[in-house]
Amino acid sequence: MSSMTSTPPSAARRRWWWALWGLMAVSAVSIAAFALPPYLTGNPADATLPLDPDVALHYLSLVAHAVPGGLALILGPLQFLTPLRNRRPRLHRITGRVYMISVVAGSIMAFFAATFSVNGLPAQISFYLLAVAWLYSLYMAYVHIRRGDVQMHRVWMIRNYALTLAAVSLRVFLLIGMALMPSFPSLEFGDVYTSSAWAAIMINIVVAEYFVVHRVLNQMTRRRRRPESTASAAPAAAPLA
Ligand code: HEM
Repeated sequence: MSSMTSTPPSAARRRWWWALWGLMAVSAVSIAAFALPPYLTGNPADATLPLDPDVALHYLSLVAHAVPGGLALILGPLQFLTPLRNRRPRLHRITGRVYMISVVAGSIMAFFAATFSVNGLPAQISFYLLAVAWLYSLYMAYVHIRRGDVQMHRVWMIRNYALTLAAVSLRVFLLIGMALMPSFPSLEFGDVYTSSAWAAIMINIVVAEYFVVHRVLNQMTRRRRRPESTASAAPAAAPLA
């Protein structure tokens, strides 16, 4: 209680954002480090997903999808670092371009990976929708920054990276589902896989909209209400701010 009263709210909020950013960055890098290696060896026998034996290019499509996907996953957190963005705008632009190219390549190859998937139509549909939303949100972020609309660029980048993070949520849900399988004998892997894919998309979209409303839209509204002298004050040096 005493620490609550002695700490200025903005400092507490900054610590909270740093913790959240750290969690996001660590989970993104961990999943990239855990999921990518089997697709870097060039050996289809290392694939962790079942491959269609009739499709010679199945493994290659996963490699061409997972490598740029992994790069986008790792670069994303850097783009949300406000201090880095303010001090090194050129670096933000360069990593932003690499991120964009990675998402375009990763989503185009995701269409192939989804088409070749042997995990059933419901999961395939979720991947098609995710790939379309991934590309569309990137396109919207790009259009807004080209117009100089930084706030709307932030909104669409939050949405886009939340979809990139669906790769993290999917694997977390998959691990939880697989851990539950021995306790629920009627639970089959296919059901766990499909529900994890859909849950990852839905939950990440809801979380993204929470951040859009609380971090961007509320801030814009507050700034509009503030008198001009205080509206131009420097923003707090926290990530995602
Ligand atoms: C957000 C949009 C994404 C879409 C639409 C998507 C789609 C897909 C699809 C369709 C597959 C094949 C699934 C199957 O055969 O059942 C797949 C597998 C894979 N994806 Fe993605 N993906 C996305 C993001 C990412 C990201 C950001 C990464 C970064 C690590 C990634 C890494 C992988 C890997 C490593 C596999 C191979 C499966 C495994 O062993 O876990 N994907 N993805």
